[in-house]
Amino acid sequence: MGEYRIKGGKRLKGEVRIGGSKNAVLPIFAATVLNGSESILHNCPLIQDTFISIEILKHIGCTVTIEKSNHGDKFGNTIIVDSSKAHNWNVPEKFTNMMRSSVLFMGSLLGRFGKADISFPGGCKLGNRPIDMHVKSLKKMGAAIKTGDMLCCRTMQMQGTQIHLDFPSVGATENIMLAAALSIGETVILNAAREPEIVDLEHFLNGMGAKIKGAGTSTIVINGAEKLHSVEHSVMPDRIVAGTYLTAVAITGGEVSLVDIWPRDIVPVTAKLAEMGCQISETGNTITLKAPPRLQYVSKLETSPHPGFPTDLQAPFVTALSVADGTSVVAENIFSCRFGHVPELQRMGADIMVMQDGRNFVVRGVEQLKGASVEATDLRCGAALILAGLVAEGETTVTNSHHVERGYQQIELDLQAIGANISYH
Ligand code: EPU
Repeated sequence: MGEYRIKGGKRLKGEVRIGGSKNAVLPIFAATVLNGSESILHNCPLIQDTFISIEILKHIGCTVTIEKSNHGDKFGNTIIVDSSKAHNWNVPEKFTNMMRSSVLFMGSLLGRFGKADISFPGGCKLGNRPIDMHVKSLKKMGAAIKTGDMLCCRTMQMQGTQIHLDFPSVGATENIMLAAALSIGETVILNAAREPEIVDLEHFLNGMGAKIKGAGTSTIVINGAEKLHSVEHSVMPDRIVAGTYLTAVAITGGEVSLVDIWPRDIVPVTAKLAEMGCQISETGNTITLKAPPRLQYVSKLETSPHPGFPTDLQAPFVTALSVADGTSVVAENIFSCRFGHVPELQRMGADIMVMQDGRNFVVRGVEQLKGASVEATDLRCGAALILAGLVAEGETTVTNSHHVERGYQQIELDLQAIGANISYH
């Protein structure tokens, strides 16, 4: 298992290009099963979750080809999925326990075959992560679902219906869209998730002939198509990677331009960074950030569904607030137990108090963190610890790099390019 070694104290400066989004490409991979044809996907991130999705697709009977960029860099990677010979509707535990979004194959396999046998999904340990809304919604669309060791789902054909989600779950919204693309009649999702990745999924599905409207709002309407066809699509930029890098630069008092991003998607993040004293400007698909020598506290950082502050950046922001001037309160409202980074940051000298409910933290900014050997317990925790290493005195080792590799493609190279002293071993 790999680790990152970081020597802190460098002011980061330069330009970084942002690649394709993990949370957009994963549902898109599940969607490629639907058309029984070719899907050409540009701007794919070559991260661990991509490789697991490819294994699932091959297991189902798809042919998958990766065409790496000619420039030898990570951009322009194209993945071609041909699902014409897909014949298998089973996704075994060896795949599902590695990645929660494997549950999205439930919707697409039901749409394509009327059958899906899927083991319960794993993924980052962020507290209890039920899939009750997925199951309830697909049942409402006419699937019979037996839950034992596996989810065994059967239907003649998915039926359009109206579904009101108790909470705007990203995954449940995507699963319904996938299951409804080839259904009979109209499906209406009320209280749908509004994340930009849902909009990218709508573009991809409509590109193959689906009839979906409203993604990005809380009402999505899907009219089932009879048949879908081949499609070519470029995956949207990763707003969470962009937010991670902006935060990394901000805590070092640095200056950066992020290129190839969609600034509007990360307004909830840039607004907070501005509140912390950063100067932010946007031109086209570029954001430039100039940080003050020390960041200011925020009175409250509260995660909520898009367009609120994203839970996936809570951990990197806790790192930033732990060296900011003043005391901040952070509330994690999406996951019941997303604070694996806290004990590790405390070992580096951060002054963080977790309230009894495990969802609210009080972060008192300290002048300096100290390098230590710390363990990534999940993807964003790993990113937060790397950021802590960038400002800590001395050397920090972040072990369990595999968590980070699930969602960041060679993060060390991007950070090295803007002056960080970080290496991967
Ligand atoms: N939930 C339920 N029942 C359900 C579904 C969700 O109770 O049937 C709860 C979850 O337990 C959680 C909340 O609803 O407390 C939100 O879950 P959601 O379904 O919205 O999240 P997800 O689809 O499992 C995606 C991202 C996560 C991101 C969340 C929230 C992907 C592949 N994953 O997860 O990304 O944190 O939305 O924005 O898109 C990450 O990238 O680090 C990551 C964890």
